[in-house]
Amino acid sequence: MKFMKPAVHRNTKITVNTKAIEQNVLNRVALLEPNQELFAVVKANGYGHGAVETALAAKAGGATGFCVAVLDEALELREAGISDPILVLGISRSEDAVIFAEQQISATISSVDWLLEASKVMMDSGKTLPPLHVHLALDTGMGRIGVRNKRGISLVEKFITSHHEYFALEGVFTHFAKADDEDTAHVEAQLAKFEELVDSFNELPKYVHCSNSAWALWHRPELSSIVRYGVAMYGINPSNGELPLPVALEPALSLTTEMVYVKQLHKGDTISYGATYVCQESEWIATLPIGYADGWLRSYNTLEVLVDGKRCPVAGRICMDQMMIRLPEYYPAGTKVTLIGKSGEDLITAEEVSHHGGTIGYEVVCLLSDRIPREYVAEFATETLDDLEEEIEIAG
Ligand SMILES: Cc1ncc(COP(=O)(O)O)c(C=O)c1O
Repeated sequence: MKFMKPAVHRNTKITVNTKAIEQNVLNRVALLEPNQELFAVVKANGYGHGAVETALAAKAGGATGFCVAVLDEALELREAGISDPILVLGISRSEDAVIFAEQQISATISSVDWLLEASKVMMDSGKTLPPLHVHLALDTGMGRIGVRNKRGISLVEKFITSHHEYFALEGVFTHFAKADDEDTAHVEAQLAKFEELVDSFNELPKYVHCSNSAWALWHRPELSSIVRYGVAMYGINPSNGELPLPVALEPALSLTTEMVYVKQLHKGDTISYGATYVCQESEWIATLPIGYADGWLRSYNTLEVLVDGKRCPVAGRICMDQMMIRLPEYYPAGTKVTLIGKSGEDLITAEEVSHHGGTIGYEVVCLLSDRIPREYVAEFATETLDDLEEEIEIAG
């Protein structure tokens, strides 16, 4: 049961272009090696874009599986009728092993202890279950989850071999800490460690994978049997703009609102909590119905937003549900305001917003709260291959 309802009676909304997601995935799938697959990472409500809608768009683009962070996110996909492989990337409760097996959802494990506990849960259930598929995480330098040595791998392999009625080892994987960095020393060291640990398996599982978006964009994706494609499929640069993109990514999410109140203030008038903004002259000020309870953080107050293609600064502190902006001239209440996305010739990206909050594009979109309704459109935002070919023919 869902308790939190998006507020539908308001003009603040997120618009997700599913074609952008489909195209970003399609472009990456076109580069896959014959035995490689792309799993779309749709955890955290599809990075704030909506898990099910995003998963379906990624599937249309050629994704053959999905990654989520927690079991409930996997169950949301199953309930929506998605029967493709799903891998839960975090460590789940061993007491939920029966659900994993019944729903054929793959679990990540980080030790043999988990298997021991899960096998007891499965036995005690008294049910005849299909084997639970597991992916063993290897910690090669992320320091988060995963077995760190060959002994740990050997214990897991032996346990699974002697309990093949309960478990099947489907994959082994690692996660890079600095795949989005110009300095490649850390990822190279992690890769060497990964290869050393993978070499120690008696029998390799079907999937040996290490690629997130950054690894796929800037390193050697061919070394990973699954490309776990997350932030890039939403059109966000994983390095937050620090590394240039080798392929075009189309941002999928726009955030817009409408002015609810417009007034003229005069020299010396102040705006918002703390009265930190003091008008220097007569200024047109608009109030927007969005604030930090929507995930539009207080720390974004050095930001600009777009009105009619023109940049307007935030005026004063962002409140819980409202914020103010300074207009270059009078606009009536009801005028559209773009906080993320295109307006006229200009564009504000999630990466740009993140620089004002001392954070990353990932966090900006994930934090957009459920209070904001999400609307889905399917628009080819960029030129299609046919258009490009046509242009080349005309030019040639
Ligand atoms: C283990 C793992 N793989 C893949 C991803 C996807 O990463 P990205 O969104 O950078 O592609 C994540 C995201 O945090 C992750 O934790």
